[in-house]
Amino acid sequence: MKKVSEFKKVASIYGGMIGGSWVTLFAMKGLETWSYGRNDDSIAKTKAHVDANFQTLIEYGALKAEELPAVQARIHYTTSLEEACKDADFIQENGPERIEAKLEALKNIEAVAPVDALIATSSSGIVIDNIVAEAAHPERVVGGHPYNPPHLIPLVEISYCAKTDKAYVDLAVEFYKSIDKEPVVLNKACPGFIANRLQLAVYREMMDLTMRGVCSAADADKALVYGPGIRWAIFGHNMIMQLGNPGGIVGMMNMLGNGGDVWLADMASWTHMPNAEYGPIAKESIDKMMAEYPDYIGHTNAECSKYRDKMLIDILKLHKKL
Ligand SMILES: NC(=O)c1ccc[n+]([C@@H]2O[C@H](COP(=O)([O-])OP(=O)(O)OC[C@H]3O[C@@H](n4cnc5c(N)ncnc54)[C@H](O)[C@@H]3O)[C@@H](O)[C@H]2O)c1
Repeated sequence: MKKVSEFKKVASIYGGMIGGSWVTLFAMKGLETWSYGRNDDSIAKTKAHVDANFQTLIEYGALKAEELPAVQARIHYTTSLEEACKDADFIQENGPERIEAKLEALKNIEAVAPVDALIATSSSGIVIDNIVAEAAHPERVVGGHPYNPPHLIPLVEISYCAKTDKAYVDLAVEFYKSIDKEPVVLNKACPGFIANRLQLAVYREMMDLTMRGVCSAADADKALVYGPGIRWAIFGHNMIMQLGNPGGIVGMMNMLGNGGDVWLADMASWTHMPNAEYGPIAKESIDKMMAEYPDYIGHTNAECSKYRDKMLIDILKLHKKL
């Protein structure tokens, strides 16, 4: 098994939302990067996506314009899976989130990749046992679930199964750290991994409060952004609790006692997404909120997305991640 310091070639398999973002990151971090797409049209789309990422990064000061040619020169677009995977040290798979597609992708990658290449799948929720069910060398395949967009958001959730060689899990941690990601390893299989479950727990309560008429969708957002959300951009909730009491986390737990039990008993516990019900209820409130935003935030999805990306880059700079 090679060391991360010996890695010379990485590959991102399939373009799309996530594949293109990984290509952006790998190349920015100085890696010779092969980007595989199924046909010329796919490659053109990935290239346009990657170039747009670079323009945004330059516009917001996260990449110097004079560095762009060297970064772009490290990217090799190809419609040959063999060319992409041959001699690759690390391969990130980004195909559709369907088990048949993941099995097929891994089979095709294994047919042309070195036998000891580290392979990670971006899958958002398919447990790794299922993805490696037909693999010739499952010991070197891990879950490497990014948070969108991977070229900006530092988190990667690494998962593995009984067939995985732990040395490859360690190698994946080391590799992602080497490109300034913040890997978290799941010790057990868990649908939805960690971050999406935390997000859904908060969102279930936001939807419930809105559907019960306690607050508007806009005010649920405001309470989150200007309350816990702004702290969570700095520290996780365990650290927030630690800092909230002179006795740290133990002092905080003692201080809180069972006061939260009444809230917990009243909080949402439903297990079926109320998509059809919630969408129309939230829409009016969200449309009004966007119309009332100051002009520097914007009033359309495109304008607000741009503002989000700029703020994301500013926050990452404060975290010394850019
Ligand atoms: N979008 C997200 O927010 C996000 C976040 C984290 C992880 N992921 C995971 O990353 C992976 C890719 O997601 P995405 O959002 O980039 O998807 P996407 O639809 O944008 O891209 C999928 C890519 O797979 C290619 N592809 C390969 N085989 C295909 C087939 N048989 N049919 C159709 N397309 C095929 C497509 O050409 C496309 O380039 C998924 O496993 C997803 O769960 C997505």
